[in-house]
Amino acid sequence: MSVSNAPIIGVVGAGTMGRGVAQLFAEGGHAVRLFDAVPGAAARGRQFVADLMQRAVDKGRHTKDQASAVLDRITLCDTLTDLTQCSVVIEAIVEDIAVKQQLFDALEAVVAADAILASNTSSLVVAQIAARCKHPQRIAGLHFFNPVPLMKVVEVIAAVRTSEATVARLRELVEGVGHRAVIAADQPGFLVNHAGRGLYTEGLRILEEQAASPADIDEVMREAAGFRMGPFELLDLAGLDVSGKVMASIYEQFQQEPRFRPSSLVPPRIAAGMYGRKSGEGWYAYGSDGKPIRPVSPVAAANLLPAGLKIWIDPQAEQRGSLAQLAASAGAEVIDARDRAQLFIIQPWGWDASSACIGLGLDARRCVAVDPLPGLKRRRTLMLTAVTDREARDAAAMLLRHDGAKLTVINDSPGFIVQRVLATIVNIAADIAQRGIASVTDIEDAVKLGLGYPHGPLSWGDRIGGTRVLAILRNMQAATGDPRYRPSPWLVRRVGLGVSLLTAEAARA
Ligand SMILES: NC(=O)c1ccc[n+]([C@@H]2O[C@H](COP(=O)([O-])OP(=O)(O)OC[C@H]3O[C@@H](n4cnc5c(N)ncnc54)[C@H](O)[C@@H]3O)[C@@H](O)[C@H]2O)c1
Repeated sequence: MSVSNAPIIGVVGAGTMGRGVAQLFAEGGHAVRLFDAVPGAAARGRQFVADLMQRAVDKGRHTKDQASAVLDRITLCDTLTDLTQCSVVIEAIVEDIAVKQQLFDALEAVVAADAILASNTSSLVVAQIAARCKHPQRIAGLHFFNPVPLMKVVEVIAAVRTSEATVARLRELVEGVGHRAVIAADQPGFLVNHAGRGLYTEGLRILEEQAASPADIDEVMREAAGFRMGPFELLDLAGLDVSGKVMASIYEQFQQEPRFRPSSLVPPRIAAGMYGRKSGEGWYAYGSDGKPIRPVSPVAAANLLPAGLKIWIDPQAEQRGSLAQLAASAGAEVIDARDRAQLFIIQPWGWDASSACIGLGLDARRCVAVDPLPGLKRRRTLMLTAVTDREARDAAAMLLRHDGAKLTVINDSPGFIVQRVLATIVNIAADIAQRGIASVTDIEDAVKLGLGYPHGPLSWGDRIGGTRVLAILRNMQAATGDPRYRPSPWLVRRVGLGVSLLTAEAARA
């Protein structure tokens, strides 16, 4: 495992991230020099790695010899000057621009002329960290994710003065220890945190509109869209105090781009200390076992569909055939005559149920909508108009649960839950590509590895259909008047040209 000519890696800051970076490179065969300003902190960092190595031995993932070789490669340093021989120094200290600038100044005086200095900053501008350095071309961001050894993606941040050679060396270094290196421009949130905005901001927007509860939004995103966690579960995990600042900072750094507009729901909850798991209460309350307490849906499951219920299903509905079969098996009658129908079922794209109903000239009191995007196989979403009456709601809920399927009932929402969140994610990724912040391949891999989404965002757009994503966005924009839904030129052009959203600009390909 040891690679004798592997570059010596310096790590400054031995906290959560620094100790993980030290472990990654030591496991990859590099000699690592670990320094921390607080006495004893580097030793604690190394001990943390030692404990993990012991666990790896217990589980049979490392032999005893391998584990002790990894530890032997991590040398503790008393002063920065002990980093003289390092070819690459990775900084993982406090997220404070003045402190980081001071450190980079000091490091330049210590390391060789061709050494690379990299910052693990999450939110600072890398060019600003490098601003006081004599050789900014050898300074870059190297953004790891927590826990470093397990999160298999690392962003190499090319600041405006970073040389191509620096980027290439860092990429090689990262890939040499088995992680995927993606290259991102020195822009707010870099790549992963930028691409991850859609899930949070759109989840919060749906809640703001009182379309659905946090628990319903999370459940639909997990069970109908295939996410590991919904936006509110993720916010509770990360802590709203931290995520709230990130949301505000990325919005401001993007000059108040409406797509990243944070929610007014957040500051009062931060003020009240409702951070999430760590404070015992967030979007969810947590029981003594640490598990979230999930509220029960207020929509009671109706038991009996009224006998001979007459249902009209929109001929344009995506799943008209399956809905009609379901209706027949539940004992309802599907009819074409609108004037005799007791329940209208529609499947709009990007519109709220009320607007879609108005457009079709249907009686909104007897109208409901079913989300066509996830299809009927997984958890179904039933959307009510602003005035759907209780009988129509309960009949539709009964019908959709008739075959044992799971159901979420929501209020009016342009694009239901899944359509609007996925269209937002695709649109933001398309704009990352349009702005040249990262390549299409890097966007795809970074999102899968860094955010754990089941698909890369642009190929997800292709699966849904670019034309459909564009229609959802345009309809959401028309329904709300909100420029956050305006489609990225990347999307508009590729849909117009009839090509995949993964198609790179000819000059860049
Ligand atoms: N925690 C995460 O999930 C995460 C993820 C990606 C990036 N980051 C970034 O990584 C950096 C470190 O974050 P962390 O979570 O490991 O913090 P941390 O508080 O766990 O560790 C920081 C360490 O740096 C040391 N330190 C502070 N100032 C120093 C200095 N001037 N010289 C040497 N050592 C100093 C501290 O003593 C501490 O041990 C930050 O820039 C953060 O934004 C964090």
